[in-house]
Amino acid sequence: MSDLSQRPESPVVGETIPHESAALHVTGRALYTDDLTPRTKGLLHAWPVQSPHAHARVTGLRTHAAYAEPGVVRVLTADDVPGLNDSGIRHDEPLFPDEVMYHGQAVCWVLAETAESARRGAGRVEVDYEPLPAVLTIHEAIAADSFQGTAPTARRGDAEAAVARAAHVFEGETEMAGQEHFYLETQASLAEVDDGGQVFVQSSTQHPSETQEVVAHVLGLAGHAVTVQCLRMGGGFGGKEVQANGYAAVAALGATLTGRPVRVRLNRTQDFTMTGKRHGFHATWRAGFDDDGHLLALDTTLTSDGGWSLDLSEAVLARAICHVDNAYWIPDVRIHGRIAKTHKTSQTAFRGFGGPQGMLVLEDIFGRCAPLLGIDPIDLRRRNFYAEGQETPYGQPVRHADRAATAWDQVLATAEVADRSAEVAHFNATHEHTKRALAMTPVKFGISFNLTALNQAGALVHVYKDGSVLINHGGTEMGQGLHTKMLQVAATSLGVPLAKVRLAPTRTDKVPNTSATAASSGSDLNGGAIKNACEQIGARLAEVDGGRGLPWEKLVGEAYLARVPLFAAGYYRTEGLHWDATVFQGSPFKYFAYGVAAAEVEVDGFTGAYRTRRVDIVHDVGDSLSPLVDLGQIEGGFVQGVGWLTLEDLRWDVSPDGEHRGRLTTRAASTYKLPSFAEMPEDFRVAMLEQAHEEGAVYGSKAVGEPPLMLAFSVREALRQACAAFGPAGISVELASPATPEAVYWALDGARNAVAHEPAGA
Ligand code: MTE
Ligand code: HPA
Ligand code: CA
Repeated sequence: MSDLSQRPESPVVGETIPHESAALHVTGRALYTDDLTPRTKGLLHAWPVQSPHAHARVTGLRTHAAYAEPGVVRVLTADDVPGLNDSGIRHDEPLFPDEVMYHGQAVCWVLAETAESARRGAGRVEVDYEPLPAVLTIHEAIAADSFQGTAPTARRGDAEAAVARAAHVFEGETEMAGQEHFYLETQASLAEVDDGGQVFVQSSTQHPSETQEVVAHVLGLAGHAVTVQCLRMGGGFGGKEVQANGYAAVAALGATLTGRPVRVRLNRTQDFTMTGKRHGFHATWRAGFDDDGHLLALDTTLTSDGGWSLDLSEAVLARAICHVDNAYWIPDVRIHGRIAKTHKTSQTAFRGFGGPQGMLVLEDIFGRCAPLLGIDPIDLRRRNFYAEGQETPYGQPVRHADRAATAWDQVLATAEVADRSAEVAHFNATHEHTKRALAMTPVKFGISFNLTALNQAGALVHVYKDGSVLINHGGTEMGQGLHTKMLQVAATSLGVPLAKVRLAPTRTDKVPNTSATAASSGSDLNGGAIKNACEQIGARLAEVDGGRGLPWEKLVGEAYLARVPLFAAGYYRTEGLHWDATVFQGSPFKYFAYGVAAAEVEVDGFTGAYRTRRVDIVHDVGDSLSPLVDLGQIEGGFVQGVGWLTLEDLRWDVSPDGEHRGRLTTRAASTYKLPSFAEMPEDFRVAMLEQAHEEGAVYGSKAVGEPPLMLAFSVREALRQACAAFGPAGISVELASPATPEAVYWALDGARNAVAHEPAGA
């Protein structure tokens, strides 16, 4: 087998080609799970009965009135479950609960001939609730000592003592909100049962194998009796990493009980109110700096808002702890984490998976402390970069640390940061009511699942007698371009043109025991497996060829006649990873992805409204597998990060005695502001880091799905600095997250009324 990262002459990987479904996407012909609905005969539609309480015991459930509704066929309740009444990966999520744990939780589901009859039927189900006290915020959870899961600590040296010794000591709290995934396609599943009892579930899931497992558990079936297929998703962003499972289980249960196909598809408000979101976090911290602004020590406690069940909260917390350092060396450090249990949706994976929340803490510290230290934030950040060979707080050597510095210097130069900073200063000196700022932030993001076992993948490659190739792999397509890259990998490793290769939908009966398409590792893992399968076939064909250099079709034909197998199962596992979760030490990541962004904003002093005037990004994707796809990921990830940090504002009703306590009040596009064209940077320049070949990764490439999201810190920091420019020099500005126009207004108003501070260096 050849070196994983080496490219042959004129490879198909690296070619700038459109997404494999681009034409289907823009013409509306691409099929998503729920597009199968009109093609499915005898289909039943499911509708949930949702709890009007954040926390309550279900003391009575009467379904008979629902059956009086025309079209209602069946009401699914706990009594119907032949297997385990639980859809949680940690078995802490009853599918049909007798105690509701969040406002909007489904108590039972109604199946009917039309969605409208199902909705009416659901309205007629009678449920008695005995309301119980609800814990809604991280602060309430801390006060009530309401936590779940493990509470790990990463440490090196003696952070407490080192902070106390430092010349400059700062302490504070940082709080950040969650984020709704707002994938365009809401959760969707369609299940049917064949004559042999085989359950077939089409699901918009990032994790078909786990969806299969959960469906099998609920139905009390073996894994081989359930097949899950994912055609493609209209976005997942982590929100379908585990949260698709329960809906697939409801559809499958309905199909087994009625013998008819069953469809579950949430409408937008159901999706908002029932599914988990990015975890909001709260942090307390103490940081010690020397006179030159070197961060000497950090002692911090992170508390995440896990919601009602564990879901992926422990893994999210682990990644948060592993990313507090971002691109910075912290000699003495202690990072403690814990998960609040609250009566809300169960918060889950979301692009970055805790990494953004961990990193925000230290970026917030730098942003708040720079003026107090009297050091320009751009210098302060750069001074604290890792040097090659230094280790993260969890003990992994930071390989290629110089790439952060290289990208930083490149942005400094190409974005003309020095000149533009001077222009900004001039602008601010001459404009009383409008201020600008230019900020730069780096990203270092670890690639691999923290849990070593998940870093494996399989593929199945068929070469037909005519030389055409069909590939299958365990990864799912959610718009990120994984399938495009996998086609390029297969064409490259077989040495055939792209047009020879076709890709079949992801199914658990083709490739078993797959990991979620998550952690940005889709192309690393599945690309490795496809390459492995292709190379097995290639080696057999080379033997048939015997050095004659036959054209592909002829060679394949000869191989068939010579009874050489023309298909292969491929497998890949990431080598060199180790992780000890008990002491929070190891090298959980194959490599780090780096990036740097510079953002310039303008803030209006009367309203807090702002514009992003220009953004420059240099991002490290290794040797790109597919440059257009990577460009889309960098731009899209960045904008999604900007949404999280500056616009998207989840609000729950937390009034202590309110009738609707625990209700999510932002539950549609009308009340939840997403980034749109108006919020795009007016001038957006994205470059990929050059000479960035990654040894040991598929064709020298790097994962790109999540890391660019965190480049959005540049916008948040620019907003902070613009707010500060309304006040006297040297003041520290605290900015809420999300930094909505309202939050920006209060920050700049605070700056305007602030008293000048003597910088430490003065
Ligand atoms: N891009 C699009 N268009 N849609 C998505 O849902 N999900 C992101 C990212 N980019 C997503 C996306 C997330 S959260 C991850 S982990 C990766 O894609 C997953 O795919 P990959 O591993 O193939 O990069
Ligand atoms: N992102 C990052 N790390 C992860 C994920 C993810 O979606 N899932 C499990 N580990
Ligand atoms: Ca959770």
